[in-house]
Amino acid sequence: MKKTFILSCTVLLTLCLAGCKSSDKEPAYKDANLSIEKRVNDLLSRMTLDEKILQLNQYATGPNDNPNNIGEVIRRLPSEIGSLIYRTEDPELRNQLQKVAVEETRLGIPIIFGYDVIHGFRTIFPIPLAQAMSWNPELVKQAASVAAKEAWYSGIDWTFAPMIDVARDGRWGRIAEGYGEDPYTTAVFTEAAVQGFQGEDMSEPEKLAACLKHFAGYGACEGGRDYGYTEISRQTLWDTYLPPYEAGVKAGAATVMSAFTNISGVPATINKYLLTDVLKEKWGHDGFIVSDWGAIGQLLNQGATADSMECAVRAFNAGLEMDMMSDCYGKFLKKALEEKKVSLAQIDESVRRILRVKFRKGLFENPYTPSTTPEERFLLPESKALAQKLAEETIVLLKNENHILPLSSKNIGVIGPMVKDNYDVMGCWTAHGNKADVETIWEGLQKEFEGKANLIYAKGCEIEGDDHTGFSEAMNVARRSEIVLLFLGESRWFTGEDANRSQIALPVIQQELLRKIKETGKPIVLVVSSGRAVELGTVEPLCDAIVEMWHPGTVAGTPIARVLSGAVNPSGKLALTFPFSGGQMPIYYNARPGGRPLQGKYTDIQTAPLYEFGHGLSYTTFTYGELKASATTLNKQDKLTVSVDVTNSGDRDGAEVVHWFIRDPVCSITRPMKELKHFEKQMIKVGETKTFTFDVDLLRDFGFVDENGDRFLEAGEYQIIVKDQVLKVEVK
Ligand code: BGC
Repeated sequence: MKKTFILSCTVLLTLCLAGCKSSDKEPAYKDANLSIEKRVNDLLSRMTLDEKILQLNQYATGPNDNPNNIGEVIRRLPSEIGSLIYRTEDPELRNQLQKVAVEETRLGIPIIFGYDVIHGFRTIFPIPLAQAMSWNPELVKQAASVAAKEAWYSGIDWTFAPMIDVARDGRWGRIAEGYGEDPYTTAVFTEAAVQGFQGEDMSEPEKLAACLKHFAGYGACEGGRDYGYTEISRQTLWDTYLPPYEAGVKAGAATVMSAFTNISGVPATINKYLLTDVLKEKWGHDGFIVSDWGAIGQLLNQGATADSMECAVRAFNAGLEMDMMSDCYGKFLKKALEEKKVSLAQIDESVRRILRVKFRKGLFENPYTPSTTPEERFLLPESKALAQKLAEETIVLLKNENHILPLSSKNIGVIGPMVKDNYDVMGCWTAHGNKADVETIWEGLQKEFEGKANLIYAKGCEIEGDDHTGFSEAMNVARRSEIVLLFLGESRWFTGEDANRSQIALPVIQQELLRKIKETGKPIVLVVSSGRAVELGTVEPLCDAIVEMWHPGTVAGTPIARVLSGAVNPSGKLALTFPFSGGQMPIYYNARPGGRPLQGKYTDIQTAPLYEFGHGLSYTTFTYGELKASATTLNKQDKLTVSVDVTNSGDRDGAEVVHWFIRDPVCSITRPMKELKHFEKQMIKVGETKTFTFDVDLLRDFGFVDENGDRFLEAGEYQIIVKDQVLKVEVK
């Protein structure tokens, strides 16, 4: 009895002490002075299994504006949920949801709100593919930073961007979302975008956590058919598809999204090699991986699993931490643990990674979005000025016969379905981009040419269809003009997710319009607004000049108007190859050479592309000096600097991009004919000479990766290629 009494007192005392302790002292995870790892571990130690599993799930809220994901989007929104996709532009709902999570749940873990902020939030910038044509990572970084700011004030913490899938088949609609066909170019812009979204410290206001997607090899889907099969050898994975991801991880990207695709028989969603061995173990990424939308459940369709439980188990054990919209983790992980199909240690590790990102994002200290008016956060003059500048630098002058551009005519016909369009020019994935905000091409031209030229408009036709009734008016306009600006192009729905095209030529009706205008005998400046490199092989001879303006976003008119008038000297260069015909795809500059260089050509069309990677004309001329090297014989540990002087020998100031390629003519594995290793863009005034320099790191730039991702440098000859100059260097 005495014994029982003492025991009861001890228990009471302990409980009392524990109670006093918890009410007196804040739990360690709430102490912002402690290290993130300490806070994560403390929080984890207090969580129940149910709370842990909820952290591993993501649901959506708000209007579902992604047509591919229509369905029952809001099944249940438990306040302990790890993440929500936030689809409205007002932070009010977010703050309400967050308040319940932070103030009314047992542990008060904030929700991380994600969204697709791909090339702007409300101020829409040129599509990412176009951004690469600027060869100006600094501007791309600034654009990502503006996008982050608009999104952050709208209740977003985390963007599902940048999309960094190298793509070489223009039939794939998602080519518009990435930075083109080259791994190095994509890697450089990945770094810029991550820095722009996250800033120096992503816990600061106005910053977003970034998400590298879609890991990996999504751009290789066969025939450009989205979600389709990808056949990628380990070698190609390492030398082509993984470099941008490695760069993004090095740049500190908080998260990664796995791809929908099946890579050589193992869907990315359950690809342990990629998700764990490479990303976490080889590269040391310590944030988390989110699945793509519903991808865990879609393993059933891929024939990789028998039921939803197995979907959860296989994805989870491969190293995928967060289930976007499949609810497989929510429904089955607990059971899987009971049946010992997954381990508690692995659940803890996964939750740890998600909490780590939430702490890094500063959500525990600042869970709410401050209130601002739409006028305070959207479409600020400086944001639009940046959108204009970036769009100007993305425009590529593909052809300019007899220097027909810049325009000097007084009567200009302005024809085509894109001229007054305020919707398609925004491109795919436009977040909250609003067509009422868009400055059309017509508005930009009117502003630019006011008092200088007479502009006469006719639409001619729609983007697609077979209504030819506008042709005669268009021909009349052409006849009354000295020159015709013909604005043709693609609808925004021609690119983006699930937007495959079997042909990448302009729609037939637009080609017909072009041929009709040609009958008038007037010179034609074709301006293309598209989300991919369209096939121009057969229409090219009909045009005196061709300009690619891509899908430029909110500020569509002024940039192209200023290029056409000459106020801006075009400096964009192709970050992907323009095929002569769609039948050449996949096509890319950095192919490996074949055994019969003079054979293996197409018998019906030219084998060469219409415009090569790196092509882009200027209104001035640049004269290149001789390539110079600090040494031509080197040991493997040596440093090498190569340089070239470029003189503006024309009569207009202009910016030039120097692309530095290398070639390793003999290697134990075969290597591409050319590999881009460095680029630089500089403004050069008339008569001025600028030096462009490339500091070569022999292992990084001459070396190659093998199928395990290990890098080697072999002795032998290497070539450095700039334009048509080749400089040979010997490595001993
Ligand atoms: C797309 C992703 C996107 C996600 C969320 C998916 O269908 O493939 O790129 O981030 O939806 O909207």
